[in-house]
Amino acid sequence: VLFLEMLLYSLLFIFAFSFRSKSEPPLDRGLIPWLGHALEFGKDASKFLNRMKKKHGNIFTVRAAGRYVTVLLDPHSYDAVINDSDSLDFTRYAQVLMERIFNLRLPHHQPGVAKALMKRHFLGMNLATLNSTMCRYLQSLLKADMPQNRKDWKEEGLFDFSYSLLFKAGYLTLFGGEQNNNSTDPSSIYEEYKKFDGLLTKMARGTLKPEEKKTALSVRKRLWELLAPAGLTESSGSSPWLHDYRRLLQEEGTDEEMQRRAVLMQLWASQGNVGPAAFWLLGYLLTNPEALMAVKREFSQISQMETSETLPMDRPMNTPVFDSALEETLRLTAAPFITREVVQEKTLHMADGQEYRLRKGDRVCLFPFVSPQTDPEIYQEPQKYKYDRFLNEDGSVKKDFYKAGRWLKYYTMPWGAGTNGCVGKQFAINTIRQFVYMVLTNYDLELCDPNAQMPEINASRYGFGMLQPEGDLLFRYKPRNTH
Ligand code: HEM
Repeated sequence: VLFLEMLLYSLLFIFAFSFRSKSEPPLDRGLIPWLGHALEFGKDASKFLNRMKKKHGNIFTVRAAGRYVTVLLDPHSYDAVINDSDSLDFTRYAQVLMERIFNLRLPHHQPGVAKALMKRHFLGMNLATLNSTMCRYLQSLLKADMPQNRKDWKEEGLFDFSYSLLFKAGYLTLFGGEQNNNSTDPSSIYEEYKKFDGLLTKMARGTLKPEEKKTALSVRKRLWELLAPAGLTESSGSSPWLHDYRRLLQEEGTDEEMQRRAVLMQLWASQGNVGPAAFWLLGYLLTNPEALMAVKREFSQISQMETSETLPMDRPMNTPVFDSALEETLRLTAAPFITREVVQEKTLHMADGQEYRLRKGDRVCLFPFVSPQTDPEIYQEPQKYKYDRFLNEDGSVKKDFYKAGRWLKYYTMPWGAGTNGCVGKQFAINTIRQFVYMVLTNYDLELCDPNAQMPEINASRYGFGMLQPEGDLLFRYKPRNTH
């Protein structure tokens, strides 16, 4: 029996490591035919990829749901993937996801034109307008949530509080504002969106159970209906960006039904990350009193000079402590995959001199969350929140980090990288800073349980941008007593 077992294992071993040549990355098929490692990958990608890293090193190929995915975890070698748009294509996999999640096909779409349009609206002069509109909505939503004359504490989940407030303000700013009498109530959009968001990773992986599928499809349909007027006419109260985006889709021959689906995708891209990021930041501040003090001190220096309740939006703000606290938050909670499809065979040159052949049709995936972001070779106590990790001793921004003795170009990558990096980065940072400033300067807030820890991470969301918590962190707040 023992002999048979050994024979079986060696056959399995040979099978698992065959068919690939030495010049290719080590292959790990997993034991289940076709499916390979798909289940473990989807359940907790961070745990799975760390396990594979220990077994194979910084580069390996795994089989998942019939596809071969080469995972690269050496940040010194990331440019070899990010900069090669000839052999490594960004759009194909993006289109697969667009179809699975949003049922969206844009055959005549010119991503370059859409990107340029986005840059025009989210950078430079136009950004200032967006910032101040956003600021106005944040202020009025906060006041509606919590009248200024209220004396007693209000208790809430911090995730729910941050996500709903930022989502609604972002929705009003970009998709439909006050001028529109028929405009959809942002709360109802948020409620539907949250249901959709909860099922999104399963939609992307195609692992919805029948009952969940029914819910997902009906919620999506409802969102399409709610978003139908957004950006359609000049009077819809939405931002100039959404008008221009709609017009571009029209010019490309996209019908109205497809346009709505594209608008839902934009709602996800623009609103899905900011709220969760603000939650993690406020959560880390509330559970790290020293960090909270430092950020408050920096803000109070500004508020002494400014009379208003909000941060000035007309000039760049110098907030190195806040910036470091945010960078540290994103290091621990931003976990996108950077995925490309190999469209022609390629030799990947690693920084250590090794070379690997990549096969046409395979995918390549970078996962910066494992390295650089939580790599113990780069960060001491990588799981620990240290608000001043990105500050030098003299208080300036720290940008020098090393791995294996070499300076790192990519030491944290919450926004992706290269031409496909996030276009909304500056808008997102300004929004989060404004929100945290308003909350910390105008309200008293504290944890309901002073010893509460940060909630666990929902492990199924690795790979989809900002992580979300399992459960919530209870806090209470009331208007600050300013006399
Ligand atoms: C904390 C907030 C945010 C984070 C962490 C974040 C992160 C990211 C990441 C990782 C990507 C993908 C890059 C890649 O595939 O290589 C991305 C793409 C994108 N983001 Fe953001 N984002 C945030 C907020 C925003 C906001 C507020 C907007 C819009 C106003 C926005 C618009 C976009 C768009 C349009 C893309 C697609 C770019 C393309 O396909 O070329 N993001 N973002």
